[in-house]
Amino acid sequence: MASFRGRSIVSIRDMSLEDLDMIVRTTEAVKGGKYSGFLRGKTVATLFFEPSTRTRLSFESAVCKGGGSVFGIADPAASSQSKGETFADSIRTVSGYCDVMVIRHPVEGAARMASELCSIPVINAGDGANQHPTQTFLDLFTIKEQLGRLSGLRVGMMGDLKYGRTVHSLTHALSMFGNELTFISPPTLKMPDHILAELQGTGLSFRTVDNLEDAAGAGLDILYVTRIQKERFGDPQEYGKVAGTYRIDRDTVRMLGEDIRIMHPLPRVDEIDEQVDATPNAIYFVQAHNGIPTRQALLGLVTGGIE
Ligand code: CP
Repeated sequence: MASFRGRSIVSIRDMSLEDLDMIVRTTEAVKGGKYSGFLRGKTVATLFFEPSTRTRLSFESAVCKGGGSVFGIADPAASSQSKGETFADSIRTVSGYCDVMVIRHPVEGAARMASELCSIPVINAGDGANQHPTQTFLDLFTIKEQLGRLSGLRVGMMGDLKYGRTVHSLTHALSMFGNELTFISPPTLKMPDHILAELQGTGLSFRTVDNLEDAAGAGLDILYVTRIQKERFGDPQEYGKVAGTYRIDRDTVRMLGEDIRIMHPLPRVDEIDEQVDATPNAIYFVQAHNGIPTRQALLGLVTGGIE
C-alpha cells in the first residue's frame, strides 16, 4: 500500500496510480466523517509568495478542522524576503517552526528546491506555470464524486494551456487513468510541446483544437475551463491579443449537452458567464469546496495522522 508519511508532494509526475487512488479514497473517508483530530499537536506553515484565496484558505481550514495549528506568510512584502533574505534561508528557518510546509511560489521548481533543503514534508501549492498537484487531487476527487469514475471519460481543457499549472498537473493524472483529452486554446496558448510529447508516448487518444465547436462535435463529459494567466505574460500587448478569447454562457452549455459538467479551478475573470452558475452543469464551487477534505486527507497522510 502507498505510504505518504513524511513525504513531500511536489509534482503529479512523482505519483503512482496507487498514490492517486489512495488520496481520492482517503478524501472520500474524510468527507464521510471517518477521521477526526488527526492533526492534533501538528503545526503547518503556509508560505504564499503569490496571491491565493482557495488554496491557502482551504489548507488553513483543513488544519483547523483536523485539530492542528497553522501560521504563515500571505504577503511576501511582510516577510524578511523584502529585506533581502534568500528563499533558501527562509525555508531552512521556517522548517524548524513546523511539521509541514505548504509553499506557493512564482518560480518553477521552488517547491522541489524547498523539499531538498529540509527534512519535513513540503507540499507544492503551485510553482509558477509548472505544477499544482493538490488542485489535481481535488479535481480527481470531484470527478469521481460527480461522475462515479476516473477513467473512460472525454475531457476538454480550455483556455490558457500554456501557463495554466492546473491543467499541466491534471493532464498527467487523467492520462494515467486512461481518459480521452481534447485541448482547446488559441495557438499561442497551446499545451507545451513536452507535455504533448509525453502524452504521445502513452499512446493515449488526444487532440488539439482552437475552437469549442470542434471539441463539442465528438462529445465531452467534462469541460475544464481555465483563466488566461495575465500575470505570466511578459508583454501586456500579448495578453491583450488573447484576453476574452473564450466565454462560456448558457447557450454554450446547451450546445455541449445536458450531461456536460463544467469545471474551473477558479478564480475566473470573464471566461464563464455567471448565469451558468445556477445550472446543474456548473460544479466549480463544489470543486472549490472539495479543497478542504482533500487537503485534510493529504495533511493527515503526510503527518501520519491518517494511515
Ligand atoms: N485554484 C487556485 O489555486 O485558486 P487560488 O489561486 O485562489 O489559490
